[in-house]
Amino acid sequence: MDQCAAIECLDVVEFTVIDIVNQRISAKASERLAEVMTSPACNLLNFAREVKLTKSEVTCGIQSLKQVGWRCDDRCQEFILRSDILGLSTLVTAQNTRKPDGCSESTVLGLFHVESPALYALGDDIANGALAEPCHISGAVRRLDGEPISGARIDVWPADEEGLYDVPHDSKSDALARATFIAGPNEDYCFRSIVASPYSIPHQGPGDRLLGAFGRHSWRPAHIHFLIEAVGYEPLITHVFRDDDSYLPSDAASVVCRPLIANWVRYPAGPTPDGSVSATSFCTLNFDFVLAPAAAQV
Ligand code: BEZ
Ligand code: FE
Repeated sequence: MDQCAAIECLDVVEFTVIDIVNQRISAKASERLAEVMTSPACNLLNFAREVKLTKSEVTCGIQSLKQVGWRCDDRCQEFILRSDILGLSTLVTAQNTRKPDGCSESTVLGLFHVESPALYALGDDIANGALAEPCHISGAVRRLDGEPISGARIDVWPADEEGLYDVPHDSKSDALARATFIAGPNEDYCFRSIVASPYSIPHQGPGDRLLGAFGRHSWRPAHIHFLIEAVGYEPLITHVFRDDDSYLPSDAASVVCRPLIANWVRYPAGPTPDGSVSATSFCTLNFDFVLAPAAAQV
């Protein structure tokens, strides 16, 4: 470092600190790391200046982040939840999954995905005792031109009527309403599962408290998750929401977008789409997906 730069670095005051910190980050970091880190550092300092952040507010923020860290392990991902609550997950997903008009919208993966769930045959009942009204779910996986994509791999996972996924609950070891399917040659899929229910993000956690401080509730509208993969196409990670859910406009995780809201149709006890007869009322959901060709992101 030459003498002049050394002197500048000895003058870290309110109006030089942003430039000096930026210089220090970019001095030895790779180009991308410098790009990715100088912007947040700069925005953080500008934000602190803009709102004239106080010392006690910084302490409070650090305390909150400590609590987020304490709540992170393999089963509880509080930092992901914080990113979801602040809309960061949705923004990053959206800007990295831009695709041609007509393709299905992508969303965040959420907190409860499990790698490689058990493979079921099309038409199977995957509820496995999950508590909720039965639901017959079907649809198609297509290309943009409407042609079928056969052999797509489809993972699904909804929350039950208590607002619980089968993970992370110690009491239930078997997967409930969670499965993988391979779509048929005519692009279609169908299975029997449960009606998805709304659920609250973990109570009495830092995420819940932050939402409370914003005057918001901590509920997510009812949805079923889909992860669809097919050779030659961009993977699709998405939700399908219930159009009768009052939490749609105020999702704690800011994920809902209109094309993913569907009509889950309720029927009284009686004949079902798979030819069986249901002793209880049940629902049907029909939802088609359109995958983007690989590397078609715009
Ligand atoms: C989920 O749907 O699994 C989820 C997404 C964002 C925050 C919390 C849960
Ligand atoms: Fe979910």
